[in-house]
Amino acid sequence: MKKVYLETFGCQMNVSDSERVATQLAAEGYEITARESAADVVLLNTCSVREKAEHKLFTRVGQVGKDAAERGEKKPLLGILGCVAQLEGETLFARSQAIDFVLGTRAVGRVSQAIEKASGGQKFYADLGDREETYDWAVTGAQRHSPYVAFVPIIEGCNKFCTYCIVPFSRGREKSLPASEIVRHVARLRREGIKEVHLIGQNVNSYRPRTDDGLGEFRGATQFSRLLRAVAATNIERIKFTTSFPRDFHPDIVEALNEHENLCNWVHLPVQSGSNRILKLMRRGHTIENYLERIDKIKSSPRRIALTTDIIVGFPGETDEDFQATLDLVEYCKFNSAYVFKYSPRPGTPAHEMSDDVSAPLKTERFLRLDKLIRFHQREVFDDYINRTLEVLAEKISGKHSDQISGHSTCQMVVNFEGARDLLGKIVKVKILESKANTLYGKIC
Ligand code: 5AD
Ligand code: SF4
Repeated sequence: MKKVYLETFGCQMNVSDSERVATQLAAEGYEITARESAADVVLLNTCSVREKAEHKLFTRVGQVGKDAAERGEKKPLLGILGCVAQLEGETLFARSQAIDFVLGTRAVGRVSQAIEKASGGQKFYADLGDREETYDWAVTGAQRHSPYVAFVPIIEGCNKFCTYCIVPFSRGREKSLPASEIVRHVARLRREGIKEVHLIGQNVNSYRPRTDDGLGEFRGATQFSRLLRAVAATNIERIKFTTSFPRDFHPDIVEALNEHENLCNWVHLPVQSGSNRILKLMRRGHTIENYLERIDKIKSSPRRIALTTDIIVGFPGETDEDFQATLDLVEYCKFNSAYVFKYSPRPGTPAHEMSDDVSAPLKTERFLRLDKLIRFHQREVFDDYINRTLEVLAEKISGKHSDQISGHSTCQMVVNFEGARDLLGKIVKVKILESKANTLYGKIC
């Protein structure tokens, strides 16, 4: 039996693709191994959102061959999947002789064919084709990243073409999955004991299935908010969704959250910049004023919804004034967390043609200043949880203390508390006593 080692970089969509690749290979008789040194086939599922992520890939490719040579073994068959595979295709073979095959983002359903062709001696095998109509989205429990949490893709790709972003090229145009299929999928996960689903997509608010199938009886201002209500009606314990796109974030989403307790109180709403001038250059399709309207709507909920965001510093042309506007925005929004990235020019995107004129040291300086301010406000936000009771899904034994359990609250905070193994998979009430770095600590009540 061939053993396959699968390593995943990047976003939840890649994690979800890898889960399906592993499910499919296991069903076809391959063994999925956690040990690279035992593997006949190594698959790297790649990310191209920033240049650093791409560099990491080439370091890993080099390592796979070197490690095998050090063990005195033949190099395993090496396949590149994911966004770098889709974007660079056959040119990857010229960049490294260690690569045996390349499989694009929508070709993952044909992974076993690729392995067979390449192990049968076919050189430079690349499949960048589309997903099969009959593609199976199911994941078996054994291949899921968590026994209690499941990712459920609802929309693939992106049509927004923000000027810095490679995703519309690596993941193609938006394609929504039928609502009836999604609802059936969630209902099945619930029966299998899954406690939390994450409805995932690059832009979940842009969810637009071809028909109303599965949404019929559910009202809502957009198909996405109707889907939220339809999924809530499955009565699965918890539903989270990510990523939201500000322009398409309809206030009715907050209404749906207010109506259904199993829709969790967390919204990830990437703003990218606090300056309207930069947002326009990024072609984001929203202004700070309408972003803040959404934030105010979210904050007006009686549910205390946690907010997270993504911000890019050092976009072409970003002045001190533009950067100050980002600092002001962070001051106002009081995010639970904000992921800050230094702008990284991606070949093929419109921003790549602009002059990358914010120097590397200035990007670093802005990164550090913004990160510090976010952490400062984070303390305030986190300390506000102290003495409150949160519902926490007990997900795993803490890495640091074997008598502690770690899990996520409905507001997507990491919470650690003392407890026994038999709590795993249960949702427990935890009174928060302390907050440190990115974690809350509490006790079961
Ligand atoms: N440079 C830096 N950050 C980027 N992101 C996307 N493209 C780039 C880029 N070219 C960030 C955005 C996005 C997150 C997933 O990655 O903030 O929301
Ligand atoms: Fe990229 Fe913009 Fe699409 Fe998000 S919305 S994936 S940032 S193009």
